Amino acid sequence: MSEDVVTYTIENHIAWVKYNRPEKRNCMSPTVNRRMMEVLDELEYRDDVGVFVLTGEGTSWSAGMDLKEYFRENEEKGLWATRKAQREAYGWWRRLRWYHKPTIAMINGWCFGGAYGPLFACDLAFAAEEATFGLSEINWGILPGGGATKVAVELVNFRNAMYHALMGENIDGQKAAEWGLVNEAVPLVKLKERVTEVANVLLTKNPVALKATKDAIRRVSEMTYDNAEDYLIRAQEAANSHDNNGRKEGIKQFIDDKTYKPGLGAYKLKD
Ligand code: ACO
Repeated sequence: MSEDVVTYTIENHIAWVKYNRPEKRNCMSPTVNRRMMEVLDELEYRDDVGVFVLTGEGTSWSAGMDLKEYFRENEEKGLWATRKAQREAYGWWRRLRWYHKPTIAMINGWCFGGAYGPLFACDLAFAAEEATFGLSEINWGILPGGGATKVAVELVNFRNAMYHALMGENIDGQKAAEWGLVNEAVPLVKLKERVTEVANVLLTKNPVALKATKDAIRRVSEMTYDNAEDYLIRAQEAANSHDNNGRKEGIKQFIDDKTYKPGLGAYKLKD
């Protein structure tokens, strides 16, 4: 049964991973969190997966942590159980933040509280205009923990983050895009099409460069300029040793073959 709470299909090198507890609005129980980690493991290094998309079955992306199975039942067992459940949840979000493949959150509906962890963990995020985002923690008497406060201040400006966390009012997908919680909002009926379009562009890029770039964007935000400059030199040199001269091919196709222009698109990857 636990395998059913997360499902996936792989189509044309895109892994479509779904929270699959629609009857519970895809809230994250310990079972979901454990299964999600297994799915991350199963997909990360497969040659037929180039992009990882996380979405939800039914009307919800994820209604946050499971208040019964994640909070109440673990508190009843003792601190050890709460800490274990936290490690499992935070563990797969951390794993997703540094995933080997580019990742896209496709927010199809409700997105509350703890769900901001995986939202931020994904490199890109696209929402349905009809989706609903909320830091509802204040409504049931806690602070936005599990990284949710950090996500709010990383992605949203100070005034909006404070209002969002204190008021417990929801915003729709369009407002989430204005605030920077997601890249874009489109009507729900167009959401999968738009995400597919973006994923297909990512699939044309050098995969080693994608991984180096996504890590760099996350890492440099906490560095001084000088440290960032140094890190980026080292990161590029490390990437060079992994990419079988991809960048040399990129230069050759532009300068010698004249088959593309880097300012207008990607070089052709070797099969
Ligand atoms: N934890 C536990 N159970 C949940 C959760 C949750 N986070 N969200 C939904 N469910 C359950 C409901 O209890 C209900 O179960 P039941 O059928 O056994 O009664 C079922 O899912 C369906 O939920 P409804 O409330 O009936 O669905 P509806 O579509 O009317 O409302 C909504 C959806 C608005 C998402 C509502 O379920 C809700 O407010 N959920 C809680 C959202 C939330 O605040 N999450 C916690 C954020 S804070 C954190 O994550 C740390």
